[in-house]
Amino acid sequence: MHKISKLAVLTSGGDAPGMNPCIRSVVRTAIYNKLQVVGIRRGYQGLIEDDMYDMEARSVSNILNLGGTILKTARCLPFRSDEGMEIAYQNLKKHGIDALVVIGGDGTFTGALRFSKKFPDIAVMGVPGTIDNDLYGSTYTLGFDTATNTVIEAIDKIRDTADAHDRLFFVEVMGRDSGAIALRAGISCGAEAILLPEKATAIEDLIKNLKTGSSNKKSSSIVIVAEGDKNGGAYDIAKKVQKEVKSYDVKVTILGHLQRGGSPSAFDRILGSRLGFAAVNALLSGKSQMMVGLEANHIKITGLEEALNQHEFKLEEDLMQMAEILSI
Ligand code: F6P
Repeated sequence: MHKISKLAVLTSGGDAPGMNPCIRSVVRTAIYNKLQVVGIRRGYQGLIEDDMYDMEARSVSNILNLGGTILKTARCLPFRSDEGMEIAYQNLKKHGIDALVVIGGDGTFTGALRFSKKFPDIAVMGVPGTIDNDLYGSTYTLGFDTATNTVIEAIDKIRDTADAHDRLFFVEVMGRDSGAIALRAGISCGAEAILLPEKATAIEDLIKNLKTGSSNKKSSSIVIVAEGDKNGGAYDIAKKVQKEVKSYDVKVTILGHLQRGGSPSAFDRILGSRLGFAAVNALLSGKSQMMVGLEANHIKITGLEEALNQHEFKLEEDLMQMAEILSI
């Protein structure tokens, strides 16, 4: 069993709103339990470059409302090599750190698992932080709720102008291989169609659907394209559709990185606080190589190995079916 006295925390991969509330929770829960706490800058990069600092309760004051991450983040290639991991390990040992909380997505967890297998004397706990909502072991990941709300706000505005001009808009949203943001934003904004990586849609069917909408007196239409959809990006799809659906003037909006920013929603602030609290408590109870998640509104702890092996995140069939029926 790991007995810990000094804990480090880092954020890695794409930033996500809710990371700051989680950092705050980790730091203060650790201090409450008489642990020393260290913040590592820029994820695994800071671990390799020895870029870390001591944190106190006041180091995390007034950050609950901030998007991004006060610890900064990076996608770090050198950490994938044995040499990079060895340097990271030596830096942790030098500072007497015996436990690590990593907040990030599946790339972050892959690194954490490899590191922890190589150096099992450092206890490691993962917290799912990614707007993509694609991790097994947690119904929701940090940032997903805020990002979805940001997308909804943007699409509502696009709807205003689409309607004013009787236009057809293709809006591309993030999510990497996951259509989670696209599906929920599509339902919330009444999109005429949602193109998802999890469900193949033939362009011919999309065109038929849009033509039906047009003959059913729809003045504007919005098609949400998840960036991982197999038909290609929103521009390619729009070009193909414009050729066939002459009744609409077609426009494209790629929402891009604005989806990652902004003040975390209430949901993400509470989720971040709960998961940070649970991560430290799990480490204190001797757990390692695991991640904390939320399922059915309860904390669930899953082995990192299992979380990564089962990493295929399933979208809810009933939501997909409902979205189609409600968009007639
Ligand atoms: O994983 C989060 C995410 O925002 C994905 O939705 C997107 O595909 C990717 O990161 C973009 O990464 P980057 O900011 O490195 O371009």
